[in-house]
This record gives sequence, C-alpha cells and structure tokens, in this order.
Amino acid sequence: MIVLKLGGSVVTDKSSAETVAEERLARAADAIAAHDGDLVLVHGGGSFGHPHAERHGVTTTDGTDDARAVVEIHGAMKELNAAVVRTLLDRDVPAVPVHPLSAASRDDDGTLSLSIETPRRMLGEGFVPVLHGDVVAHAGRGATILSGDELVVALARGLDADRVGLCSDVPGVLDESGEVLTRVETFGDVADALGGSGDTDVTGGMAAKVRELLELGAPASVFDLDGLSSFLGGGAPGTRIG
Ligand code: IPE
Repeated sequence: MIVLKLGGSVVTDKSSAETVAEERLARAADAIAAHDGDLVLVHGGGSFGHPHAERHGVTTTDGTDDARAVVEIHGAMKELNAAVVRTLLDRDVPAVPVHPLSAASRDDDGTLSLSIETPRRMLGEGFVPVLHGDVVAHAGRGATILSGDELVVALARGLDADRVGLCSDVPGVLDESGEVLTRVETFGDVADALGGSGDTDVTGGMAAKVRELLELGAPASVFDLDGLSSFLGGGAPGTRIG
C-alpha cells in the first residue's frame, strides 16, 4: 500500500488565491489512474488553506477559538478536496473524501490522534481515501493547522504502508550546490544542506520533513510531478529517504 501526498504546489497555483492548478492536477490524476494497487492520497493547502490560516493567525501551534475562522479554513480546504476528488473520479479512480477536522485532533502536547479505521475500511472496500491538510481541534488551544505531511506520517504508520511518496514542486532533497541527492539515510547526510537540526521548523520545511520520514519504517521518496509515474510504477525518482 502506498501513501502519496500531492503538495499544495502541485494541485494549486500558489500565486493566485484559491486557484486549482488544473493542468498539473490533471497530470497527477492521469498518473494515479494508470496505477494499479492500494493507494491513500493526501493533498496540501497551497493557495486554498494557507492564506486563510495566515489571515486568522493560525499555525500548527498557534490556535484559534473562533469557529468562523475554523469553518473558513476548513471550507477552503474542502473546496480544493472536492476538485481533487472530482478530477480523480473523472478518470475512474474510486476516490472518496476524508476531512480531518471530523476525523482527527491533537492533545495538549500536539500529538495527533487520527481515526485510522475510516481510511482502513475504505481501502478494504476498494476506495482511494483522499485526505487533506486541515484545521483540527487542539487541547487547550482551540484549533490548529494539521499539515498534509503530518497526515502522511500518521497514515503510513497506522496503515503500515509499504512506500511513501511526497510529490511537490522540488525534484528532491537538494544538496548545498543545488543537486538532487539520490539517497538520504541519516539526518547527518543533509543537516548542513538543510540548515541545522530542523527542531525549530514547525511548519513542515524540508528539514522537518526529512527528519520525520527517516523515523518511518517505510521507505519514502521526495520528487516532483515528472517523477510521479515512475514512483507509482515502483521506481525511485528524486530522493529516497530511509
Ligand atoms: C496545509 O497543508 C493545510 C492548511 C493550511 C489548512 P500543507 O502544509 O500540507 O500544505 P502545502 O502542501 O504546504 O501547501
């Protein structure tokens, strides 16, 4: 089973508010439609979730207790999710939406709890669950942002994924001279290039991403849209982590 994230930079036009990147989304959906095998999809927020979250000052750690803000951020993400699901259904991918606001929350130290039975059952019935970065209830803080990257890690662990893919607008993890690294096996391999430990990176930059993926049991790959078909076909485009 594969857990695949389509970054916000793939499915949206980040330079234009609430704009689906139709062409890139279609390319991604074509590659997914050609894949035969169990798949769980996650997509990011891009120009849908992030501007609303910013306007309300909501991050993965700074929460809001304003229900209108929660509904607005969630509403934008649901709209993007509907576009992703529709594009997949158009190609006969049996995609069904899963909205994390109603299926996940954080405890007071930020630990995510996600109802894994729902996507597990969907997979068992032949569906492709499509989750997305969202806003979720967070003990003591109202509601905070849940990134698609965090969801990928939770899903890969909970569903015991064989492989994990992160498709974004970068072709892989880059070294100090801007070359794509083929393989990263320890954080030490990339600490200098990524600028330190990643401990202070709460918004999911590359350092935090690599650190989390290294802790996963399953091999993960970071690649761009050009690498998606190869990844789904069993190849190792971009950077393999772990
Ligand atoms: C962000 O998800 C979700 C919201 C802002 C509500 P991600 O952090 O995974 O999105 P991208 O991939 O960076 O756009």
